[in-house]
Amino acid sequence: MTDKADHSRRNFLYVAAGGLGAVAAGATAVPFVGSMFPAADTLAASKTEYDVSTVVEGQLVVIQWQGKPVFVVNRTADMLNRVKGHDDLLKDPMSQAIDAVQAEWMDTDEKRIYRAIKPEILIVVASCTHLGCIPLFKPTSGREDWGDSVPENWAGGWHCPCHGSFYDLSARVVNGSPAPQNLHVMPYKYKTDSVVLIG
Ligand code: FES
Repeated sequence: MTDKADHSRRNFLYVAAGGLGAVAAGATAVPFVGSMFPAADTLAASKTEYDVSTVVEGQLVVIQWQGKPVFVVNRTADMLNRVKGHDDLLKDPMSQAIDAVQAEWMDTDEKRIYRAIKPEILIVVASCTHLGCIPLFKPTSGREDWGDSVPENWAGGWHCPCHGSFYDLSARVVNGSPAPQNLHVMPYKYKTDSVVLIG
């Protein structure tokens, strides 16, 4: 195994997200009987519940939502500091292009910068907005892990192995990347202090 492959394995923890998605997968086989409204089980299939308190500080986990991989990152105070100070490197630093329709909670500058309801917990679709590869998490700053493949003063984030797009620690795309947009934020809300309902 190469160092890079080993690095990506260390940084990804795949987990089964709780409840609704898995339960509803079987339930959607029930025949549709002509209602104008989606059945409760169909609505449930579009939602995923997850307890973000299970993600330790600094860790990224991958869960499933509507069959797509989703990153959940518990950012440390240091990682949150490294979200700021490089707006000039970003295509869409205030998340104007897409997030207004995807996440109605994104209604303050702070939420637009951190792209999260609770700053430390980032939840984004794990699909590069160029052609859909899964970007590799590279949270450390500088070139320690990636050498010259990252910008000189790299503050940490993601690197897409397919065509080289970079995203910062708020999953905002870096200038010069083939990816046109930040990693997508989806609708979600907190059901309790730590359990989120995605979708
Ligand atoms: S799919 Fe990520 S850069 Fe092309």
